[in-house]
Amino acid sequence: MSLPILTLKSDRQRSLINRHPWVFSGAVKDLPKAETGDIIQVNDNKGQWLGYGFFDSRSEIVCKVFEYDNQDAIIDQAYWQLRLTQAYDMRKNLLDLSKTNCFRLVHAEGDSLPGMIADVYNTTIVLQILHKGTQNILEHIATSLHNLGFEFIYLKTKKSSKHIEGINLPQGWLGKEGIPIVSVKENGLAYEVDIENGQKTGFFLDQRDNRFLLRNYSKNKSVLNAFCYTGGFSVSALRGGATNITSVDISKSAVEQCDRNIVENFDGDAPSLSIAADCFDYLREMESGKFDVIVLDPPAFAKHARAVPQASRGYKDINMLAIQKIKPGGIIFTFSCSKNIDTVLFRKIVFGAGADAKRSVRIIHQLTQGIDHPINIYHPEGEYLKGLVLYVE
Ligand SMILES: C[S@@+](CC[C@H](N)C(=O)[O-])C[C@H]1O[C@@H](n2cnc3c(N)ncnc32)[C@H](O)[C@@H]1O
Repeated sequence: MSLPILTLKSDRQRSLINRHPWVFSGAVKDLPKAETGDIIQVNDNKGQWLGYGFFDSRSEIVCKVFEYDNQDAIIDQAYWQLRLTQAYDMRKNLLDLSKTNCFRLVHAEGDSLPGMIADVYNTTIVLQILHKGTQNILEHIATSLHNLGFEFIYLKTKKSSKHIEGINLPQGWLGKEGIPIVSVKENGLAYEVDIENGQKTGFFLDQRDNRFLLRNYSKNKSVLNAFCYTGGFSVSALRGGATNITSVDISKSAVEQCDRNIVENFDGDAPSLSIAADCFDYLREMESGKFDVIVLDPPAFAKHARAVPQASRGYKDINMLAIQKIKPGGIIFTFSCSKNIDTVLFRKIVFGAGADAKRSVRIIHQLTQGIDHPINIYHPEGEYLKGLVLYVE
């Protein structure tokens, strides 16, 4: 295929040879004659083909590479169909789709498809377009998704993508209109997902395995689900046999949906209390020894690198309060989904929280995002969800 060519500097091509998908502007010897969003070819300093990617003249990351293997690839409808089919095949192989019909079908760089997130909610796809390049191939993506059997596509582009990437796609249905509140199941439990007004694409699909693990620790336990959103962990704890669940979130609509999800699964008989409140206040005011199990799944406190110190204090505060107040022999599921706080730093923060609470704390599980949010081994930046399960003496 004859495409505009970007040539790398000889001393800056190693990371691309190692399949890191981003080309930074400082690594470029010759820029291609191309517009932002165009598909370009990336060559090494000697003119050898290295890959194909999406160009962006305005960004520090001038190219995001999506093809490293096939120089002869013709990047057309059939190409994108194959790439999406491969992503779907992976999920079909690894997930039990008879019990789970909501999952991430495309996880951007994690699937070597930068600029694109596609989440499946039964027969509806919620699509996030994060790069001009994927905006340009939107028709191919939509055709491919329909060919895979998904009936409805809802476009939900992040505000930041509109500002930073210049994406100009309106939020809404692409083609045939579906239903904005979709009923799904995850590991056999039922949830309603508001794809239009809910957070992210509607549901925090990345926590599926961790919610399932909570079932093992909930039998005959009193459980607090802090930052509960629509109650994924709450429903799982009840299914695991919790004696009671308290769910807290600052969003009133999320808490109301949490209640509806509990009723849907347990016919309104569940020992459940849902509260719209700030979890920092709730944890501060909560009496000691009330809960055997506490889940802490806050939003990303560190959206930028410069927010890390303040975010670290936030994570430390909630963890310290939970460790101080949990019943002896209690279990804490604690998470951070901030990209800018890595596994080592997160563990240090929880270490500091334990030390300040002056209790013996042991790590019994180390958790991450679900298998449908794979981490491309060449792109470690894709690892964002970190979790620890703590046993507090
Ligand atoms: C990562 S989501 C939790 C996802 C949830 N664990 C699940 O499995 O669906 C974070 C939640 O924290 C809530 N939130 C943000 N700030 C909060 C605060 N200060 N107090 C309580 N909830 C807060 C958001 O409304 C959001 O629902």
